[in-house]
Amino acid sequence: MKLQSRKIAPAQGLRGEIIVPGDKSISHRSIMFGALADGNTRVKGFLQGEDNFSTLNAFSAMGVKIDQHADGDLTVHGCGLNGLCEPEDVLDCGNSGTTIRLMSGLLAGQSFFSVLTGDKYLRKRPMGRVLTPLIQMGAQMQGRDGGKYAPLAISGKPLQAIEYTSPVASAQVKSAILLAGLYADGTTTVYEPHLSRDHSERMLRHFGVEVNSFAGGVSIVGGQRLTARDLVVPGDISSAAFFMVAALIVPNSELLICNVGINPSRAGIIDILQQMNGSIELLNQREMGGEPVADILVKSSDLTGIEIGGALVPRAIDELPVVSIAAACATGVTVIRDARELRVKETDRIAAIADVLQVLGVDVVTADDGMTITGCAQLGGGNVQSCGDHRIAMSAAVAALRASTGVSIDDTQCTAISFPNFWDLLEQIRD
Ligand code: S3P
Repeated sequence: MKLQSRKIAPAQGLRGEIIVPGDKSISHRSIMFGALADGNTRVKGFLQGEDNFSTLNAFSAMGVKIDQHADGDLTVHGCGLNGLCEPEDVLDCGNSGTTIRLMSGLLAGQSFFSVLTGDKYLRKRPMGRVLTPLIQMGAQMQGRDGGKYAPLAISGKPLQAIEYTSPVASAQVKSAILLAGLYADGTTTVYEPHLSRDHSERMLRHFGVEVNSFAGGVSIVGGQRLTARDLVVPGDISSAAFFMVAALIVPNSELLICNVGINPSRAGIIDILQQMNGSIELLNQREMGGEPVADILVKSSDLTGIEIGGALVPRAIDELPVVSIAAACATGVTVIRDARELRVKETDRIAAIADVLQVLGVDVVTADDGMTITGCAQLGGGNVQSCGDHRIAMSAAVAALRASTGVSIDDTQCTAISFPNFWDLLEQIRD
């Protein structure tokens, strides 16, 4: 397939009011938990992203009826805790880490055989982090290279509850174990080094399941049934982040981003940009289906460099590529550390974003777990590579708005993974 490149021109100002599409993490979970529930779940604001269709197709292949309405809403016809059917073919998770890892946990406890695979990027991402705890629960699973990589073959088995201390703060690992825990005998507990996003816990509670969250971990008793209940998916803060940084770094900008999820386990980007002296106001704070939501008002600001590490990192893990663009436009030095996880995302995001910054003339020094970026008054232009990673492509587009000349991005089709109308919105807000 021919790569779709784009040249993005610098901007004089960004203005207007936008709504970003639905949250990717919550959209995945709305299908998964909706499918396991007793009754039908209407999902409003479902993200029409490629990753979410990977989840939708996988559940359809296991016999779950999902109606797609003209307005983009879904109705998931729940088939109950034990109502999934053996898929006839391999389940293709595309580019989606959330799909393959959460489904690994779910499929481990079924009474049938299944195989999960993905695209060339997903097949390089580590799966041992979910196989290790699941095998401890009694799962029978195999993967390439001794269980390190997909494709994964799963022979569903009765599971036993475990207490597991995850070496990484990962919502995908935590959620895979909680899903397996629903099928296990006893109480399953997951401890994590820092709190990762808690959408699974919140949605399970929304469906009437008792989930016990405490400092350092979460536990669930197996065998609990889910009761279907309608859901409203808030706008994705990870998508809003591109427009937040864009409006901060382009002079003469004022942007209102409406209807954004501000779950504290996800909202690290707000703390980071405010610490950098960014003008960000949360307006009209409210709640939607167990998730906090606000409208976010952003105005151009003179940013300053900061240090980012520790518990803040999992709260902003997907936003760190675009944070590095803010850092490049700030006065002083920004240090990002404790973010080794960036190396195993859709691509190695430390290497990929450092390459983009270097093309634009920014001084960046990488480390195993992060990078040090020295801000500069003017970004240059040039040709950059997205490495097929949606968040690298969109971060490069944000940088282009402050570049001296345009920036050409080699492969931009990948933005459809999480943000299908990104390019249209970007053009719409130019002054
Ligand atoms: C996600 C969790 C995060 C995040 C990913 C979505 C989720 O991954 O990077 O984009 O929906 O649970 P990790 O759990 O691997 O950190």
